Amino acid sequence: MIFRNTPVRWGAVSQLLHWLIVALIAVQVTLGLIGLELPLGMEKLAALARHKSIGITILALAAIRLLWRWMNPTPALPGNLLPIERFLARFTHAGLYVLLFALPLTGWIMSSARGFPVSWFNLMQLPNLVSKSGTLYHAMIEVHATLAIALGLILALHIAGALKHHFVLKDDTLRRMLPGCAPAADRSVAAADSPRKSC
Ligand code: HEM
Ligand code: HEM
Repeated sequence: MIFRNTPVRWGAVSQLLHWLIVALIAVQVTLGLIGLELPLGMEKLAALARHKSIGITILALAAIRLLWRWMNPTPALPGNLLPIERFLARFTHAGLYVLLFALPLTGWIMSSARGFPVSWFNLMQLPNLVSKSGTLYHAMIEVHATLAIALGLILALHIAGALKHHFVLKDDTLRRMLPGCAPAADRSVAAADSPRKSC
């Protein structure tokens, strides 16, 4: 298993962080929407408390992910991209990184402005980011909801891009983000190393 990125593929740490964050975002959006739908009561508070704890976990993982990215080579985009596709790939990746920070931070500011301190799975209480303010609380509800919609839109582009690479262009873009699959450029090395699957 290769932990670090190489110029042609994502290493195990980047892959793990990518797919762990994907799974947490799915749970996170579900809990956010459940919390929104439920009437005021224990169930709503429990769903939102879990939503906040998972959101803070995503914030921490996003920070680790960026740090790891700066400490590693970044695989270059495939050479077969048109300038517009290159722009879209860079735009969606940057947008996703911004949202991985902006969504948790606006949620945290929202809770602080409401006067509900944020706890991380009841293990640790986090400091309030701002003092109590009804105006800021209501503004943050709007911003948080708008950012969640932006995440959905950018994610749709991102997934469409990944699937186009895999099924239409038939290049290694998706494969190099999947564990256990050696991209073409790595296969000769992999074959010499161990009998790794080529997908
Ligand atoms: C990547 C992280 C996050 C995602 C994707 C996310 C997504 C969502 C979604 C889809 C909703 C329901 C729609 C809405 O009102 O916006 C929601 C609601 C909410 N989120 Fe988050 N959220 C994240 C992080 C956080 C964090 C870290 C906190 C607090 C520490 C938080 C606090 C809340 C609260 C309190 C609501 C209910 C808002 C209301 O009452 O209208 N969120 N979130
Ligand atoms: C919440 C969901 C997701 C988020 C936040 C996310 C975020 C990101 C980010 C920020 C990058 C850029 C990595 C970098 O340059 O450091 C990336 C790369 C990638 N993502 Fe996602 N992603 C998500 C879901 C998905 C899904 C569902 C797929 C597959 C269908 C996917 C496939 C890929 C692939 C193949 C790459 C590598 C692109 C390349 O090598 O140039 N992602 N993702």
